[in-house]
Amino acid sequence: MQNNREQWSSKILFLFAAIGSAVGLGNIWRFPYIMGEYGGAVFLFVYMFFILTICVIPLICELSIGKYTKKENVGAYAIVNPKLKFFGWINVITATVISSFYFVVGGWIIHYIYINFINHKLENHSDYFLSFVALPFLPYILTLVFLTACVFFVYRGVNKGIELGNKIMMPTFLLILIVLAIVSISLPNGHKGLEFMFKPDMSKISFEMILAALGQSFFTLSIGAGCLLVYGSYMKEKENIVKNAYLIIFADTIFALLAGIMIFPAVFSFGLKSDSGAGLVFITLPKIFAQMPYGSFLAILFFILLLFAALTSAISLAEVQTAAYIENFHLSRKKAAGLVFVIIAILALPVSLSFGFLSNVKIFSKSFFDLFDFITSNILMPLNSIIICIIFGWFVKIKKVLIFKNEYIYKLFSVLVKYIVPLVLTILMICGLLK
Ligand code: TRP
Repeated sequence: MQNNREQWSSKILFLFAAIGSAVGLGNIWRFPYIMGEYGGAVFLFVYMFFILTICVIPLICELSIGKYTKKENVGAYAIVNPKLKFFGWINVITATVISSFYFVVGGWIIHYIYINFINHKLENHSDYFLSFVALPFLPYILTLVFLTACVFFVYRGVNKGIELGNKIMMPTFLLILIVLAIVSISLPNGHKGLEFMFKPDMSKISFEMILAALGQSFFTLSIGAGCLLVYGSYMKEKENIVKNAYLIIFADTIFALLAGIMIFPAVFSFGLKSDSGAGLVFITLPKIFAQMPYGSFLAILFFILLLFAALTSAISLAEVQTAAYIENFHLSRKKAAGLVFVIIAILALPVSLSFGFLSNVKIFSKSFFDLFDFITSNILMPLNSIIICIIFGWFVKIKKVLIFKNEYIYKLFSVLVKYIVPLVLTILMICGLLK
């Protein structure tokens, strides 16, 4: 057990760290490509619906249980009831599996910083991306570089490590996203991208799309892997969880929408395909930059900020694992961070190779990359969220942890957390698995 448990230095720093965890590759890389694959506006609306009505509940639960128990996942569940420890570990495993592909994409970003830095002019952005990710060594080595940076911050701890930089980098990132979004809209035919994003085409509704929107909502808010539980455990007593939860959602949604507005007008303007998958951002953005004055400078700046946004999310994933190893295996922070490094380095290898050397290896007809993404977004994250809602609703005295303005809001919340959200999530998850 840790005696001097760290706390966030101030309210605003907690919020920055939680937003830092939420805003990341999920917003800039995953959101546009999933939305592109599932047909644009209808996806966006379903996604927004999930975020505002369903996902906010497990988000509040995670923060509350963390804040209330002041423990990492395993210890927190054990305090609620010693029999529940196992579920804490499932959160840790989820964070580990997400890390295995998240860090690979982190490595790609480093490469895009480098090629802009040496001013490497690309002939065909799509071919370039595909041949880069198929290389056997370079992408993996860059994954390890990204992992090293992340583990370094985690090793330094909450105050010195995680808070550092959040303050300056996130606002700068927001600014540059706004500039890029404006440039993208003003490209010829840019309005078609906006139509794709905001004008629903009802023929695109499908059950698979609804599941993808649910998975994306979890992913983007960092729910269902215990990240917010751990961050909540460093919260100070007097902070208001519900208000913070909505601020996190608000900030995260702004980043995702801006990313969409930055990507889709450009996709339509350049006649690219909106459903080109995981490479979408890496193929489209360099094309936008190539058309802009000071393009390579802006590209470097953009990818550095994206790298930072990815790092702040990666840190939260690594912190879930580190905190669990510290408290349950009685390791020093340094050793625990080292263990996290080794585990992610091993798991990331098949993921990185699944774009080239191992591209023919399919499990349930999915590559390693798709498989890990699928298992986490469609199974583990919803499952963890169902569990945390049930635990919070049935095992914790809600009023001890959360303050409600009036009795109606309390009643609404408890019905949602005890019955509705677990039920809806269970139905969606099972239907998704039976398909
Ligand atoms: N939310 C982050 C992003 O959008 C990724 C992330 C961090 C995450 N922690 C998580 C996703 C926990 C799921 C669960 O990039």
